[in-house]
Formats: sequence, C-alpha cells, structure tokens
Amino acid sequence: MRLKMRRRTMPFVQIAQPSDHRRMAELHSEGFPRGWSTGEITVLAEEPTVTSLVVRSEGGGQQPACGFVMLRQAADEAEILSIAVDQTARGEGFGRALMSQAIRHCQSERLARLILEVDGGNEAAVALYTRLGFREIGRRAGYYENIAGPGAERHDALVMALALL
Ligand SMILES: CC(C)(COP(=O)(O)OP(=O)(O)OC[C@H]1O[C@@H](n2cnc3c(N)ncnc32)[C@H](O)[C@@H]1OP(=O)(O)O)[C@@H](O)C(=O)NCCC(=O)NCCS
Repeated sequence: MRLKMRRRTMPFVQIAQPSDHRRMAELHSEGFPRGWSTGEITVLAEEPTVTSLVVRSEGGGQQPACGFVMLRQAADEAEILSIAVDQTARGEGFGRALMSQAIRHCQSERLARLILEVDGGNEAAVALYTRLGFREIGRRAGYYENIAGPGAERHDALVMALALL
C-alpha cells in the first residue's frame, strides 16, 4: 500500500520590500478582525526601529508572500507587532520560520528579550510561541471578545516573553 505524504514546502524568509506591503495588508486582514491598510503597513515598516519579514515557499521567486511578521525594537527588547500566515498555508511551518528568523534578528542585535501579546483563546498562536520557548509573564483578564459571540466568555490576553541572553 502506498502512503500519502503531506507535501511540506521549504520556507524562505526575507526582509519585506515596499512591494510586499499590499500583500502584507491582505494577510493581516485575513488573520485579524481589524485589518491594517497598505498605507498603515508602509508607515509602520518605515519606522527605523521596525523590522518586517516575509516568507515564501523556497523557489517561489516573485510569488506573493504567504506570511509576514513585524517587530519593533525598544531599548534592549523587541515586541512582535503582528504575524500572520495565509489561511491556505497554515500548519506548514511558515509561522515557525518567521518567528525563528525574528528571534535570530533580535539575537544579532544583542537584545535581552522578545515579548508579545496574544489572545489566550488563539490555540495556534499560543502553541507556536510556547514551542519556541516563550513563557507567560502577564495576563489581562477578559481582554479579548470571544469569536463565538458576545454572550461567550471573553478571553484573557497573555503577555509572553522569550529571554535571549
Ligand atoms: C498563528 C499562525 C501565525 C501560525 O502560523 P503557521 O504557519 O500555521 O504555524 P506553523 O505551521 O509554523 O506551526 C508552528 C507550531 O505551532 C503549532 N501549531 C500551529 N497551528 C496549530 C494549531 N491550530 N493547533 C495547535 N498547534 C498548532 C504547530 O504544531 C507547530 O509546532 P511544531 O513546529 O513544533 O510542529 C497562524 O495560525 C495565523 O496566521 N493565524 C492568524 C493570525 C494570528 O492569530 N496571529 C497571531 C497573533 S498573536
């Protein structure tokens, strides 16, 4: 009997170019209830303390990015501003590849830690960060509306950090 293997693509992470901003806005709108416009992405990406990365499948050439991450450096730490992967490409390692490159970037800048805030009900994101070594350092009770509806119990916001030194 022949086993069906799931195709795994090799992620290729690059610094985002202005030509990626429209696609990043699309990915952000897909991933979050409140989208960011291309203009908002451009303004943010042009801040000198902000780093923007995109991921494509290796050999994807000029194909649109299938994910992005943005982070902002402040003093000796950085914060993840946003990360999103194309709905059709989730679970294939693109999020991990983006976060791993973001961590390497922070290490090369000799930053002490990388922090982020996540909806505690976002299982995929919490799993991604936990597997990379992030640990909860704070919690804002009932911060996020539950997508199940206004009657459903609200989710806590988790503040998570990865120590780099
Ligand atoms: C969160 C997100 C970026 C993850 O990206 P992804 O490309 O699907 O993640 P990966 O395939 O790289 O998976 C990374 C790890 O998380 C785990 N994971 C991913 N999705 C999961 C899910 N739905 N449930 C449980 N674990 C999951 C994987 O098992 C994997 O662990 P491993 O590498 O040790 O096997 C993606 O789901 C997304 O874009 N969500 C919408 C936007 C969002 O919520 N962003 C985060 C805001 S804080």
